[in-house]
Amino acid sequence: MSPATLPKVCLIGAGSSGIAAGKTLHERGIPFDCYELSDRVGGNWVWGNKNNVSSSYRSLHINTSRTRMEYSDYPMPESYPDFPRHDQIAKYFDDYVDHFGFRDRIRFETGVDHVERRDDGVFEVRISTGDTLEYDAVIVANGHHWDPRWPEPAFPGSDSFQGEQMHSHYYRDESQLVGKDVVVVGMGNSAMDIAVDASYHAKTTYLSARRGVHIVPKYIFGKPMDTIGGSERVPGPVRFAMFRRLVKAYVGDLTSYGLPAPDHKLGQAHPTVSGRILDRLAHGAITPKPNIDRLEGDQVVFTDGTSVRADLVVYCTGYKIAFPFFDEGLVSVKDNQVRLYKFMFHPSVAGLYFLGLIQPLGAIMPIAERQSHLIARHLTGAYALPEQAEMERDIDRKLEAMRKRYVASKRHTIQVDYDDYMRELTKEMEKGALRSASGARVLAVEPRAALEQAA
Ligand SMILES: Cc1cc2nc3c(=O)[nH]c(=O)nc-3n(C[C@H](O)[C@H](O)[C@H](O)COP(=O)(O)OP(=O)(O)OC[C@H]3O[C@@H](n4cnc5c(N)ncnc54)[C@H](O)[C@@H]3O)c2cc1C
Ligand SMILES: NC(=O)c1ccc[n+]([C@@H]2O[C@H](COP(=O)([O-])OP(=O)(O)OC[C@H]3O[C@@H](n4cnc5c(N)ncnc54)[C@H](OP(=O)(O)O)[C@@H]3O)[C@@H](O)[C@H]2O)c1
Repeated sequence: MSPATLPKVCLIGAGSSGIAAGKTLHERGIPFDCYELSDRVGGNWVWGNKNNVSSSYRSLHINTSRTRMEYSDYPMPESYPDFPRHDQIAKYFDDYVDHFGFRDRIRFETGVDHVERRDDGVFEVRISTGDTLEYDAVIVANGHHWDPRWPEPAFPGSDSFQGEQMHSHYYRDESQLVGKDVVVVGMGNSAMDIAVDASYHAKTTYLSARRGVHIVPKYIFGKPMDTIGGSERVPGPVRFAMFRRLVKAYVGDLTSYGLPAPDHKLGQAHPTVSGRILDRLAHGAITPKPNIDRLEGDQVVFTDGTSVRADLVVYCTGYKIAFPFFDEGLVSVKDNQVRLYKFMFHPSVAGLYFLGLIQPLGAIMPIAERQSHLIARHLTGAYALPEQAEMERDIDRKLEAMRKRYVASKRHTIQVDYDDYMRELTKEMEKGALRSASGARVLAVEPRAALEQAA
C-alpha cells in the first residue's frame, strides 16, 4: 500500500516508548509525524531534560537489567554494566534513533497542545506553534511518570510546616540534601534511591513507610535478579513461587532492619528493587519510621507518637496518569484508571492508541516495542480488534484481576507481569490476524486525512 492509502499518524512523545513506535512506523512505511517537547529523545532518562518533566536524578541507574530492558533488535553495548546510569541509557535511545534512521520524522521542541476528534473520525491536532494538523490516528506516548502525586489528602500541618516539602519528581542531586535533617516518605523505588543518597549527604535520614514492602535485591547468585527464571515460556505462578523463595532466602525478615513487615506477598505490589537500602539501614545511616501523622512547626510527628526535627520532607508518593491535551469526554482518567483494551486500544474511539501505559514487573521498553508492532498491524489491516463489547469485558476482567491481586493503591492500576503480558500481546496478534482474515474491514482506521493531503 502507498503511504496515502494508509492512515496518517500523529505520535506524541519521543521517549523510549515513542521511539519504539517511530521505528516501527518508519520501517513499515506508515506516514507519521512525531512531536517531542524536548530538544532530544529519551524522555525520563535525560537528566536535566529541557522538557522540564523528567524525574531523573544524578544517581539514577536502571533497576531492570540491561538485557531485559533493551529493544529486541538493538542490544545495549557489551561495555555497559548490568544496571547502567541514566546518561548511558539516554545515549542508547539516541543511538537507536540514528541506527534506524528516523530522526527527521521527529519535530523537536514542539508539543502537542490539544487533540480533538471530528465526527468523521479525523483527529485535529493543535501543536505548540499554533498550527492545527489533521491525522487519521494518534499514538499517545507521553509517559506516566512526570505528573507528581502529592499525599492525598495532605498531612495535617503541611500548610504551616517550617521546613521544605518536595516531591521526588523535583529531586535532581545530592546538593538538595547536604547537611539537612531529611524525612523520605514512601517505600517505592524513588524512596529507596533518595533515602540512600540522603544517608550519605544529609545530616540525618528517616524513611517513613505507611506499609511494609518486599525489597528485591539487584543481584542473586551473581546474576541480575530479573534474569533468573525470566522467560515468556515459564508460567507466571512457577516464576513467582521461585522468585519468592529466592528473595526470602536472600533478604530474610525485613523487621530485623527495623522495617515494617509487608502485609502482602511478593508480586502483589509493584516491586521495590534496591541493592543498597538494607546496607544503609544496617549501618544506622537511615532510621525507619511509620507513616506521618502530622507536621507541627519544624517537627514531623509519626503515627507511633515519635517526632523528629526536619528541614526537608521528600514525598516519594508516586505519579498520576495525565493527558493534558485531551478533553475529558474523549479520554477520562479517574484515580489513575483508564479503560483501555490490552492497556493500549481505546475501546470506542478507532485510531486512538496508548503506548507504554503499563507498570510492568519488568522493563517497559521491549513491551512498548511489541505494542508498536500490534498498532502497526492494526493500522495496516493485518490485525483487527474484537467487537467493543468483548473489549469492555476483557477490560473488566483485567481490572477485577488487578483488584484481587494487588495491594489497594493508586499505583496499581496498570500493572502487568512482563513475561505474561508479552506472551499475551503475541497471542493477541495471532487472534487479531484471524479476525482480520475472516472478513473484518481491511483498514479499521480510514486514511481520510492522508488521502486529503495527497490530493
Ligand atoms: C525515577 C524513575 C526511574 C525509572 N526506572 C525504570 C527502569 O529502571 N526500568 C524501566 O523499565 N522503567 C523505569 N521507569 C519507568 C519509566 O517510565 C520508563 O523507563 C520510561 O521512561 C518510559 O518511557 P516513555 O517514553 O513511556 O515515557 P517518558 O520517558 O516519560 O517520555 C515521554 C516523552 O513524551 C514527551 N511529551 C510529553 N508530553 C508531550 C506533548 N504534549 N507533546 C510532545 N511531547 C510530549 C516528553 O517530553 C518525553 O520525551 C522509571 C521511572 C522513573 C520516574
Ligand atoms: N530505576 C530505578 O531505580 C527507579 C527509581 C525510582 C523510580 N522508579 C520507577 O518509577 C516509578 C515510580 O516510582 P515511585 O517510587 O516514584 O512511586 P510509586 O512506585 O508509586 O511508590 C509510591 C510510594 O509512596 C507511598 N505513598 C503514596 N501515597 C502516600 C501517602 N499519602 N502517604 C504515605 N505513603 C504514600 C506508596 O505506598 P502504597 O503502596 O501504600 O500506596 C508507595 O510506597 C515506578 O515504576 C518505579 O519502579 C525506578
